[in-house]
Amino acid sequence: MNKNIVLVGFMGSGKTTIGKLLAQSLAWNFIDTDDIAIKKSGKTSAPEVFEQLGEIGWRKYESEAISELSKQTNLVISTGGGVITNSENIVNLKKGGHLVYLQTSFETITSRLIGDTSRPLFTDIKIAHKLFETREPLYRENSDWTLDTTLKTPAELCSEILLSVSR
Ligand code: S3P
Repeated sequence: MNKNIVLVGFMGSGKTTIGKLLAQSLAWNFIDTDDIAIKKSGKTSAPEVFEQLGEIGWRKYESEAISELSKQTNLVISTGGGVITNSENIVNLKKGGHLVYLQTSFETITSRLIGDTSRPLFTDIKIAHKLFETREPLYRENSDWTLDTTLKTPAELCSEILLSVSR
């Protein structure tokens, strides 16, 4: 039985891309907590959930998703950028998995997310930067590994993660 690999990090840090690659390499299932939260809410997108149920509504479904996933094994889990702000989420994620932080600069994130309409908390760059500064230490302190993603391809990061978790 293998513990899950849980990817954490800010929006736009590559969790989904790298997570899918990892899952492929391990022949494990890939799960995105955003997809589960959306499904649980009965809505069709994160912006719709935020608009109709607010951030509190979103966090409730997100935490439910995490609690359920923590009881499973052999999963690669890509988490929403805000999961780390809830201590119960951290406990649950750690219970069932190795946490890997994909550390990415705010400049890189901004270049990736400019014009993106799927992230309700990345519509104002100043607010997003404040969120980034608040969360950065939380990602680092609560993760088993921190990987600097600068100048690395998804394939390289995938190999590094596999090496880290196998040690
Ligand atoms: C959020 C990040 C999003 C999604 C929601 C809130 C956040 O996920 O969970 O829009 O609080 O940072 P990604 O990190 O996958 O973009």
